[in-house]
Amino acid sequence: LARGVTEPDLAGRHVVVSAGGTREPLDPVRYLGNRSSGKQGYALARTAAARGARVTLIEANTGLADPAGVDVVHVGTAVQLREAVLKAAAEADAVVMAAAVADFRPADYAQGKIKKKDGEEPAPLVLVRNPDILAEISAERAHPGQVVVGFAAETDDVLANGRSKLRRKGCDLLVVNEVGERKTFGSEENEAVVLAADGSETPVPHGPKEALADVVWDQVAARLAG
Ligand code: CTP
Ligand code: CA
Repeated sequence: LARGVTEPDLAGRHVVVSAGGTREPLDPVRYLGNRSSGKQGYALARTAAARGARVTLIEANTGLADPAGVDVVHVGTAVQLREAVLKAAAEADAVVMAAAVADFRPADYAQGKIKKKDGEEPAPLVLVRNPDILAEISAERAHPGQVVVGFAAETDDVLANGRSKLRRKGCDLLVVNEVGERKTFGSEENEAVVLAADGSETPVPHGPKEALADVVWDQVAARLAG
């Protein structure tokens, strides 16, 4: 069982976790991507399984091995991630969006490799918005009582940004962390504040990503029970 947990409090529950970062292709060899390692999402999947949940992990470009006892769906782009999350969320008790979803994708995909032309400047890159998966699943819950959780890496006024993002997205919980040295990207550790729609704010001290994952599942389990 996971750290500090004495009973499988998520037994009989189905949870969906997204992890990693989407890649938005420009041509057959290039993409727009981000620095998400997927480790926090994998920690969420492992700890949920340890607490007895049936877990669907929707993975984008992490290169990490499938965790034991977890159903894994592999996707590449934001559009594919949306499709996989909506499908799995239809019968889930909780959905946790730990994946870094590209906000924009190239408006056009070049079927052949984009080539330089002598003496010509490159054409400007035209981008279009990707769907907001977290806002969509929050607004259209598969069933009342489904718990929806988002993640946000912020700079500057981290908490104020987090509070307004929680409202904007309409989710139940938003895990906010500050982006910086030793924090977040690629690291084994994390430090965050879990903001809840009911106004509660739970600071989680610097520590393993599993410890943060367990705080998230504590909060999810409490909402599912209540
Ligand atoms: N998210 C999503 N779909 C998107 C963008 C983000 O589902 N197209 C989810 C992420 O998985 C994360 C949460 O929304 O759980 C917050 O992501 P973030 O990038 O911080 O939110 P944005 O609304 O894109 O805000 P920003 O402009 O600050 O990037
Ligand atoms: Ca974003």
